[in-house]
Amino acid sequence: MSFERHDALATGTILHGHTVEKVMSEGGFGIVYLVSHLATGEKRVIKEYMPSFALRAGDSQNVGPRSISDQDTFEWGLKAFVEEAQLLMRMKHLYVVPVIEAFHKFGTAYLVMPYVNGMTLTDWLKQNGRPGQSDMDKIFIALLEALKYVHENDILHRDIKPDNILIKPDGQPVLIDFGSARQSAASKSQMLTQVLTHHFAAFEQYSSNGPFTPALDYYGLAATMYFSLTGRLPPQAPDRIHGDPYESLIGDTTLSSEYRPSMLATIDRCLCVFARDRLQSAFEIQRAMLGELPENVITVPPLTPEPIPESSPGSEANPEPGRQQEINKLSTNSYAGFWKRFMAAIIDAIVTTGISFAVGMGYGILVVLAGNEPYIDDGTASVLNLLINWTYFARMESSSSQATLGKMALGIKVTDLDGYRISFGRATGRYFGKIISMLVFCIGFLMVAFTKKKQGLHDMMAGCLVVNK
Ligand SMILES: Nc1ncnc2c1ncn2[C@@H]1O[C@H](COP(=O)(O)OP(=O)(O)OP(=O)(O)O)[C@@H](O)[C@H]1O
Ligand SMILES: [Mg+2]
Repeated sequence: MSFERHDALATGTILHGHTVEKVMSEGGFGIVYLVSHLATGEKRVIKEYMPSFALRAGDSQNVGPRSISDQDTFEWGLKAFVEEAQLLMRMKHLYVVPVIEAFHKFGTAYLVMPYVNGMTLTDWLKQNGRPGQSDMDKIFIALLEALKYVHENDILHRDIKPDNILIKPDGQPVLIDFGSARQSAASKSQMLTQVLTHHFAAFEQYSSNGPFTPALDYYGLAATMYFSLTGRLPPQAPDRIHGDPYESLIGDTTLSSEYRPSMLATIDRCLCVFARDRLQSAFEIQRAMLGELPENVITVPPLTPEPIPESSPGSEANPEPGRQQEINKLSTNSYAGFWKRFMAAIIDAIVTTGISFAVGMGYGILVVLAGNEPYIDDGTASVLNLLINWTYFARMESSSSQATLGKMALGIKVTDLDGYRISFGRATGRYFGKIISMLVFCIGFLMVAFTKKKQGLHDMMAGCLVVNK
């Protein structure tokens, strides 16, 4: 992701025993510097944790979140960056860029790598044109070796694409830029679609729920192979759910006369939209590419998702959980209806009344213990009530369950318009929007019964949906 930010460290800055020579790249998550090691003069590369929502303050070199509301996400991402760097420091593989060390400075974190002499696969393709079969084998069989190794160490790369593969002068590939920390930080801040690379990201990467398995890296690798052979980007995964525009490689007569058909079929198979339809191990993919597996093992299964059931009482049964849930994440046809939401609201009213009662009792006991009359004036009671209701709704609807107890009981949850979890701030907006929904005979609530997406006025104001789980 290319990104102009103008707040990188200046050339000549001394950074943990290195001198900054120049900025190599400014991504949405980090700045990459070419540096030289002060003691040995060796060329190295340092990556700085610098997400798009962070900045280097004024003249100081210190990095921090752009606003207070980004503080938590900044720190969460920083922790994930360092943890990932520590994992990568243990990786030693010919085709994986090593991480020499990681350190904290200027309020952020850095990882140090050796400089790999080479060019990105993107540049290699521009310079050399379409790779031949032997180049394809040399590059991608080697990258599958790298994936075997990282997956065995419980790491997913998550951002395999031509820009993240370096090709050395001898033609050997090196995998760089592991994106797990970036993606987990993004899922925390509901920014998933801003960090993943469209066309190379697997369908499941568009959701914070996964499933996150090695098969998502096989998708990225197959998309990279597809691009290398055709010069075209494969269609974006979410666009493939209905009326898949993907053009199979095995059906391309020009390619199949030049390349091993088993390799073309393997690419098609690993580009299946649903993780479970892809091949499931790097070894299997290598064998399939080389024509060592029977043809029927590689054949692409048909993409025939079941129709999404219309929401109606009693139609919640999910005939095939894996595939159906994957479809549901981006297809929000299953909106929760008025009566279901009404029942959930009654349960929540009982729960919040219970909490208010318990808090009132507790307050009363404290007052009596302090030797006063057990009396709460109306004003205090109303403020307490409001605080209890607001925290209950906003916290629960922005939590991982995305639902209050009432909604959980009815099997429904709150999402944003793309089907993702909402933030605490948005849940707060939705909660206070209910005051407006309540005006004029609760018309804002009744709108749930007759709007297309079954949204109340407060849902519309906060950009939310209430859907069946
Ligand atoms: N170890 C390295 N040796 C040589 N060049 C490197 C090395 N690491 C990165 N580069 C160069 O810097 C570019 C950017 O690096 P990288 O892909 O790690 O970060 P990014 O994509 O800018 O960051 P982000 O994590 O924000 O997406 C690479 O495309 C490559 O040209
Ligand atoms: Mg990159």
